[in-house]
Amino acid sequence: MRREHFAKLQPRCPYCRVAREQEFSLYIGEVAREEDGDIREGVLICSNPLCQREHPILDGIPVVVTDGPSWAASQLGSVMQRGDLTPFAESMLGDLAGAGSSFDRDRGNNGIYAEAHWGGADPSYLPLVRAGMELLSKKPEGVWIDVGCSVGRGTFELARATGELTVGLDLNFSMLRVAEQVRHRGRVRYSRRRVGLVFDAVDEVAPDLPRENVSFWCADAAAMPFAPGSFRGAFCLNLLDCVQSPLGLLVELGRVVAQGGEVALSTPFDWAVGATPSSSWMGGHSQRGPQDGSSLLEFRRILSAECAAGIDTGLVIEAERDGVPWRLRVNERSVTEYAVFFARLRRKG
Ligand SMILES: C[S@@+](CC[C@H](N)C(=O)[O-])C[C@H]1O[C@@H](n2cnc3c(N)ncnc32)[C@H](O)[C@@H]1O
Ligand SMILES: [Zn+2]
Repeated sequence: MRREHFAKLQPRCPYCRVAREQEFSLYIGEVAREEDGDIREGVLICSNPLCQREHPILDGIPVVVTDGPSWAASQLGSVMQRGDLTPFAESMLGDLAGAGSSFDRDRGNNGIYAEAHWGGADPSYLPLVRAGMELLSKKPEGVWIDVGCSVGRGTFELARATGELTVGLDLNFSMLRVAEQVRHRGRVRYSRRRVGLVFDAVDEVAPDLPRENVSFWCADAAAMPFAPGSFRGAFCLNLLDCVQSPLGLLVELGRVVAQGGEVALSTPFDWAVGATPSSSWMGGHSQRGPQDGSSLLEFRRILSAECAAGIDTGLVIEAERDGVPWRLRVNERSVTEYAVFFARLRRKG
């Protein structure tokens, strides 16, 4: 985390907002490792004397979550993972841990998204990023946020388009580590699944990107550590069906985007109970009801002025595009392809 990015973003304590409904800024506490204004290890502290929560900066990534223990329960393994294992040792450990282990799951997932964002001369994720840009009403300007950035390609492309700071936010530390490695070292490193537990190590020079203008944050999209209206706009690609509360995500996007700002949101509406309880899905059930179980109709209803639920996200739909292909390589003989729905949302003034 670069000091000048921290100064520009003026982050807030998400715990104080969620638990006490109060806005308190964070300040930089002890710094254990720093390289030329880039804090690699240190701590951000809540300025509320009744809170004083410590939010660590690890491998250059601030971890600013409301519930430290539950984040640690799922992510500490990734934080502690060594980055210096040879492909030989990694393959041995992969066999030892076995199929379906958390090591296998993380390595596989990272590889799928890293390959989509960074693999080859024309990564499969770029058309999706372009579709998001094309849906905006004009060329993006100012400070933007890429919510659910994963391994970070969209964040860099947004920074390229705006010429300004772009924040990449995700909850998954090992994915952010891939993104941060590109920012910090200019290298793309991941393992790509060939078949079963057989992977190929990828370690390449990253393409030419505005590395000085991105900042990656580990935080929950449902409780972002930023003040209301901090961003001129947001990308939120393929996150809506991955969170506990899709409606809560929309409310939070409406909070952090400034009045008049735009959100480019895409989703395949691929609901799964592992990510979202079915009671919180938008459509995908109750096909005998007036909307025929349609996710698209439910999404439109929630974002319409007459929303029956009475929860105002502060966002309205301004433009739509449907059926954009989103391709994820699973292994050397398997690809998953979605037809993604896109919307441009406007933060009401
Ligand atoms: C389906 S992936 C999409 C990633 C990327 N935007 C893309 O389209 O390739 C969903 C991403 O959202 C992240 N994610 C899931 N729940 C999250 C949450 N509550 N807060 C922040 N990120 C979250 C995951 O770690 C993952 O990187
Ligand atoms: Zn606090």
